[in-house]
Parts: sequence; structure tokens; C-alpha cells
Amino acid sequence: MATRETLTVTDNRTGKQYELPIENGAIRTADLRQIKVSPDDSGLMGYDPALTNSATCKSKITFIDGDKGILRYRGYPIEELAAKSNYLETAYLIVKGELPDERHLEMWKYNITIHSMVHENIKKFMDGFRYDAHPMGMLVGTVGALSTFYPDAANINDLESRRLQTRRLIGKLPTLAAFAYRRTLGLPYVYPDNDLSYTGNFLSMLLKMTELKYQPNPALERALEVLFILHADHEQNCSTNALRAVASSQVDPYSAVAGAVAALYGPLHGGANEAVIRMLTEIGSKERVPEAIKKFKAGEGRLMGFGHRVYKNYDPRAKIIKQTAYEVFEVTGKNPLIDIALELERIALEDDYFVSRKLYPNVDFYSGIIYQAMGFPVTMFPVLFAIPRTSGWMAQWAEMVRDPEQKIVRPRQIFIGEAPRAYIPIAQRPAPSMREDAVSPEI
Ligand code: ACO
Repeated sequence: MATRETLTVTDNRTGKQYELPIENGAIRTADLRQIKVSPDDSGLMGYDPALTNSATCKSKITFIDGDKGILRYRGYPIEELAAKSNYLETAYLIVKGELPDERHLEMWKYNITIHSMVHENIKKFMDGFRYDAHPMGMLVGTVGALSTFYPDAANINDLESRRLQTRRLIGKLPTLAAFAYRRTLGLPYVYPDNDLSYTGNFLSMLLKMTELKYQPNPALERALEVLFILHADHEQNCSTNALRAVASSQVDPYSAVAGAVAALYGPLHGGANEAVIRMLTEIGSKERVPEAIKKFKAGEGRLMGFGHRVYKNYDPRAKIIKQTAYEVFEVTGKNPLIDIALELERIALEDDYFVSRKLYPNVDFYSGIIYQAMGFPVTMFPVLFAIPRTSGWMAQWAEMVRDPEQKIVRPRQIFIGEAPRAYIPIAQRPAPSMREDAVSPEI
């Protein structure tokens, strides 16, 4: 029998049949709108509150196979990039689609580093935050503020403008992040040192004290490069989806990236590794791991850093990070939390509860342990995620801007509120507690 790339559905309300095209393993939800019970029916919708099974774009950037534990940027396996590439080269790959030759890589490095300075007014802007402001909150504000410094960024349909804003954002994010960190410590801001690598310069802006030139430790610099490569993109995750939704209004990319940074600020996204550190600290010793596992299985809290919406296998980034942890400990000394983490992983991976639910370590299980060993406070963890993710965000943004199928994001809803009713003058309204239909307030 000849097969057709279509889906036939029968509407049991009307008995009518519809044949919907299947393209790339998907139907277009807009095709459902022809399914109506009457001419004034606006048509069938798909209901997908957290977009768990709705593709919102076609993308060429990142491929994930969650069942097999595969992650590739532009076709290149994450393992190879982490072993052989550096962050700026990977950022080039993500943004431009191909690995650069030597000349293009040099030009790219130059084009990024000449944008590492920020306007002096950004320092004044930073000074406006309270002494205890969270660095991620400061990053949301300062990235958004950049749009006021670069009104030319509104030219989103101009290729040269898109290139310029991409270089500026990748170049300036480490500076903004480091300034936010120094602000929390009450230390003077350190200007970029463009002789250093991307991560070396970032370490310099964070840690330089009175020395004339900061020399990053090569092992820590490399570990940060690897962590940055692993975090550079992850297809349609929460912050990237936020970025695409904000940018779909054709706002400038600084405002859209500020929206993405805000999404990353949340504990379910960029803050999970902080939760891992808290959990490991609370468990306190290897001996208490079986007791903790029992609690997680009973539904008393979750084993943080385990499980993933997409990966139903070992997160390939977690494997690389685990290896990197030991390279960092060679320099910093062992973070004692690693022993607790290893014991948790060993027991969980032998336990039917975790195995049957396909719960494996994710990227956050070991990253916080490394960051803590390197001396970063937990408030900096999501900031360390935002810096490298900027290349992914900019690639996704450019892809969206150029995609003729994209429009302003405007989802539908299923209205479950009140039917039409007449306005009641205030003097005639019953007090809420007296109303028969009194409901608890929503906010
Ligand atoms: N510990 C214990 N049980 C878990 C865990 C966990 N970490 N994760 C999922 N489960 C259980 C759930 O209780 C559920 O069990 P049930 O079927 O008996 O009810 C089942 O596994 C499926 O869980 P869901 O919540 O439906 O899975 P979902 O895909 O929605 O959630 C998530 C994924 C949010 C990552 C979840 O696994 C979790 O909360 N993990 C801990 C937090 C974490 O590490 N987040 C970082 C994610 S990576 C990132 O954002 C960069």
C-alpha cells in the first residue's frame, strides 16, 4: 500500500474526516482550525501549556536526541568541541554555522574583543543598585540598558547591524557580569585586558587586585572554556524561547536578551546548580546518602541535578563536566561535596525508582561543585551560564529574524472565566465574604 505523509482525523462531533499534511514529523497546528462544528466556530486548537510537544520553529543550530544522550552544535558532537575547541571558536560556529579558518577566527576574536569595553555610564548605572543586589538581577538590568546606548540596534533587518550587536553582546557580557560581581564585593571595577583569552580576561576582570597584569591559571582558564562551550546553546530551552518570544515583536536584541537573562534567573533553569550545592551541603556526608535517597523516593524533595525534560539518558554535558571537575581540583583542592555527589549518583543509578523514570545526572549536577571549588559564590552560577549562552541566543535570534515563517508570537488560550455580565455600581456590590460565589483571591 502506498504510504502518504498525512494524518487522517475524524471529528466524532460531526463525523467529518480531515487529512492533514505531516512535514518533518509534525502537523501544523494551524491546520486544525479547519475542524469546526459550525461555521461560526473558530476551529480546533492544540492545548499545550508548557509547549512540551509543540515545535515553534525550524532550526539548524543545535541537535539533541534526549533518548540517546546526543548533543551537537551545527552537526559537531559536544564531546569533540569540548575536547578540541575553545569558547570563541564554538561561538563562531554557533553564530555563523561553520567552523572558522585561521584568518576568520583571528578576525572574529578581534571583532569580539574590541567590544569588551562598556560605556562609562554603565558603571554609574551599576552604582545605582543596592550593595546586596543579586548579580543576575544586575545583569538583567544592565543588558536591557545597553539598548539605550545603541539605538542603531533597532535595525534588526540589517545584516551589518545584526553582526555588530552580536559582537557587542558576546564581547560585553563578561564585562557586565564581572562588574556586577565586583559591585557585590565593593571592589573597583577592572577594565578588560584584551591580551588575554575570552575566559582569561573574564577571570582578570573578576579577580585582579593590585597586580599590574593578572595571569590566569591555565587549568582554570581551560576549565571555564569547557564549561562555556557546554553552555553555549541548548535549542529551544526556557530562556531561548523567551528570547524568541520577546524578539518576535521586532524589539532590539538587547531588550530580547534581557528577557532571556530574566528567564535564566529562575531556579528551574539557571539556578538548578545552586540547588544542588544546597542539597549536597544539607546531606553533609556520604554515609547519609542512602537516607537522602529514601526521602527523594518518598517524594520529600527531589534529587537536584537529576532528570531532564529532554534527556532520558545521561546528559552528555554532565559526563564532560565530571571529568573537568577533577582537573579543577588539581588546582583548587578537592571540593568535599564531590564525594557525596558521586555516592548519590552511584546509588541512584542502581535504584529502580531512578532507572525506571530515566533520571540521570544533568549538566547542573557537577557544574556547581566546580564553580564552588573555583571560588564563585552561588549567586554567580546563573551569571556564568548567561555569558556563554549569549552566542546561542544571538544565533537563535538571527535565525528567527531571517525566518519568513516567523511572526509576532501570540498564542491562543482556552477561556474558562465568567460569562458576560452587567456592571454593578459599587454601592450595590455585595461584600466579597457575603457573596455566595465568593472565591479565594488569585493574587
Ligand atoms: N528526583 C526525584 N524524582 C524525580 C526527579 C528528581 N530529580 N525528577 C523527576 N522525578 C520523578 C517525578 O517525581 C515523576 O515521578 P512520578 O512519575 O512517579 O510522578 C517522574 O520522575 C517524572 O518527573 P517530571 O517532573 O514529570 O519530569 P519533567 O520532565 O517535567 O521534569 C525536571 C524535568 C524539571 C528537570 C525534573 O527532573 C527535576 O525537577 N529535576 C531536578 C531539578 C533539576 O535538576 N533541574 C535542572 C534541569 S537542567 C537545566 O535546566 C539546565
